[in-house]
Amino acid sequence: MNILLLGSGGREHTLAWKLAQSPRLNSLFIAPGNAGTASVGTNLPVTVNDFHAIREACLTHRIGMVVVGPEDPLVHGIHDFFLEDPNLRTIPLIGPTRQAAMLEGSKDFAKAFLKKYGIPTAAYQTFTADRLDDGISFLKTLRLPYVLKADGLAAGKGVVICQSLDEAVAELTAMLTGSKFGEASHKVVIEEFLQGIELSAFVVADGTHYRILPEAKDYKKIGMGDSGPNTGGMGSVSPVPFARGEFLAQVEHRVIRPTMNGLRAEGIPYQGFLFFGLMNVQGVPYVIEYNCRLGDPETEAVLPRMRTDLVEICQAVATGTLDEVTLEIDPRTTASVMLVSEGYPGSYEKGREITGLDQVTDSLVFHAGTSALDDRIVTNGGRVMAVTSFGNTLKEALKKSYENAEKITFKGKYYRTDIGFDL
Ligand code: AMP
Ligand code: GLY
Repeated sequence: MNILLLGSGGREHTLAWKLAQSPRLNSLFIAPGNAGTASVGTNLPVTVNDFHAIREACLTHRIGMVVVGPEDPLVHGIHDFFLEDPNLRTIPLIGPTRQAAMLEGSKDFAKAFLKKYGIPTAAYQTFTADRLDDGISFLKTLRLPYVLKADGLAAGKGVVICQSLDEAVAELTAMLTGSKFGEASHKVVIEEFLQGIELSAFVVADGTHYRILPEAKDYKKIGMGDSGPNTGGMGSVSPVPFARGEFLAQVEHRVIRPTMNGLRAEGIPYQGFLFFGLMNVQGVPYVIEYNCRLGDPETEAVLPRMRTDLVEICQAVATGTLDEVTLEIDPRTTASVMLVSEGYPGSYEKGREITGLDQVTDSLVFHAGTSALDDRIVTNGGRVMAVTSFGNTLKEALKKSYENAEKITFKGKYYRTDIGFDL
């Protein structure tokens, strides 16, 4: 079968690498991909939101299945677009419909769903511009710090945590009047701040059945010891030592199962990957957010641990037969370290030559912001590449990743040297 994968980050290189290992695969195409995906398939110059160009690519390359990496096309209804087109209807698309993707596309929808099904989550209220005064009154009932969330997609920047009431009132006003995130913050969720340690859980679902993937922890802050601004993710580890036995059982019983049952009760079949952003609050898993896709950089640590054929899993999603698939997981630990461009998450330069990739031994390298220029590979983003290694212990996995991170060079390379420091 020919498969088209949508996306261009480290998550997509990892997905492409894994799909390419399948004997069920004939040709793999990636739109638009990066220099890493080009080593395991054919990149197409098509962006993830250009549904008409994706349609043409599917017909031209006789695509038998589409796998979607990022949330944007899902929230914008690419699954529905396929179902509505007579020529695309028969091509399974791995990723939820627009309605199911609302779990990520609307924070207000997600919070109402969580509340309705009794899933642990922070107390909240949602406000629109005509209720700004009520929003301010609600803020006054909460304790510091204040958490404000734009309802819609805001390129991962829609959550603002304020350290004073004045700041929160100013932010809320800017968000609701549209000067901050435009249409995305037309509604704002204000919620209680949760204290705890974060964890990412994942399932793959076929509309009826689901399978739980290995959990992971990502490191979002740019600086050592989780300091400084948020990034798209600076590294990840899997499994997560504090998430064993009793806690993981709670994740399934209090979060995953009620979510999947709730979706079924709402008449919203969920097909694809679902990501639960969790906070361990004194042993209870609280949902911070849902994402309608896999995490990045969690995927770079999670997928290498999956021994089961990913094409087989995706085919089971398409045919509603995930109950017949057993996920085989590598018991070893993976640690992934992200190499980024100096200046990121602020402004940074692109086009810097990357060398030393041929020196890497005993680690996997997943490209994120890279592109091929003649016969060279150059930086093309803030997050440049992830170095993932296996170990019998977290320490051993990290040691290998750091040894190889040293060998890869480009001007302005930066990475955190304390991934896993809190575990
Ligand atoms: P998100 O963009 O939804 O991933 O949120 C960004 C980050 O904000 C999360 O990863 C958490 O670290 C933090 N966050 C979101 N909601 C809360 C909350 N209610 N309490 C504490 N931290 C939060
Ligand atoms: N690592 C967090 C995310 O993918 O949203």
